[in-house]
Amino acid sequence: MGLTFLGIESSCDDSAAAVVRDDRSILASVVAGQAALHADFGGVVPEIAARAHAEKLDLCVEEALAQAGLRLSDVDGIAVTAGPGLIGGVLSGVMLAKGLAAGSGLPLVGVNHLAGHALTPRLTDGIPFPYLMLLVSGGHCQFLRVEGPADFTRLGGTIDDAPGEAFDKVAKLLGLPQPGGPAVEAAARAGDPRRFALPRPLLDRPGCDLSFSGLKTAVLRQRDALVAAQGGLHEQDRADLCAGFQAAVAEVLAEKTRRALALAPAPVLAVAGGVAANESLRAALQRVAAEAGATFLAPPLRLCTDNAAMIAWAGIEAYQAGRRDGMELAARPRWPL
Ligand code: KG4
Ligand code: ZN
Repeated sequence: MGLTFLGIESSCDDSAAAVVRDDRSILASVVAGQAALHADFGGVVPEIAARAHAEKLDLCVEEALAQAGLRLSDVDGIAVTAGPGLIGGVLSGVMLAKGLAAGSGLPLVGVNHLAGHALTPRLTDGIPFPYLMLLVSGGHCQFLRVEGPADFTRLGGTIDDAPGEAFDKVAKLLGLPQPGGPAVEAAARAGDPRRFALPRPLLDRPGCDLSFSGLKTAVLRQRDALVAAQGGLHEQDRADLCAGFQAAVAEVLAEKTRRALALAPAPVLAVAGGVAANESLRAALQRVAAEAGATFLAPPLRLCTDNAAMIAWAGIEAYQAGRRDGMELAARPRWPL
């Protein structure tokens, strides 16, 4: 008999629960987003997020079990994100998982959220170790060589903002809606990426570290110059700034990926995180992978962004490797891989 795990995720602004089997089938994956709750604030408000998780998480679990046609006693274990993330949300998930485990006697496995993202290509495509993972989301940006279910080598990452955060901030300062990534990408379609000279941060420095906050500041300066010169922004200015910003992000990520693949060659380059939805970034990464003789793999978007199926899957992999957690499992706001 195979293993079936319940997964629980609440580290940022999505409450999620899923039921996944060790044969890689996803029996249910429920995600209750909070975007509407945070929309007026231009970012995730930790207190609002924590309260929403506390209200919604157990309903997500009920819904996931119902969709899977199972009762809690039918699953073989409970996996929960134990960090890193906003502490209020992580605590909601960990406490719920502990309560369910204590009540049912099921084994409990605490999962690192980043490991969940990093192991997703094994859930979606069943690929073997090792592979190179580029994680690009609103909260994270790093290159990981994935060598085993608990064996990750970090090759580099952002030293300031995550790329999704930069997309969101650029959207905000150009008066575009949140989440900024899709809005900037849409505006960029009508733009000329060469009109504004924007920096390519850290390209002159060796290694795989990245930086995005200077790029965002450069967009801000160009915007202020335009506003000072002409009293506001025209539609075309917005489009050109978005196109220039997006091209800079894609170029920097592509070059650093080239270096990561040279440093730690791997047969597969995989991406995860919401920014992986960006088509010009995908195209750039696809070219880099092809150059290096690697296969490019982008899981379906619903499994690239935050979800609990990846947590259930990472829990299964950890459980199979012998990991068990007890009632002392702690919620960790910081938890480097
Ligand atoms: O992985 P995700 O759903 O959540 C976490 O950050 O954990 O990523 C969300 C981020 C947001 O910053 C959003 O603006 C960005 O991904 N994003 C995009 C695109 N779609 C979403 N960035 C660039 N281009 C896109 N098409
Ligand atoms: Zn995430």
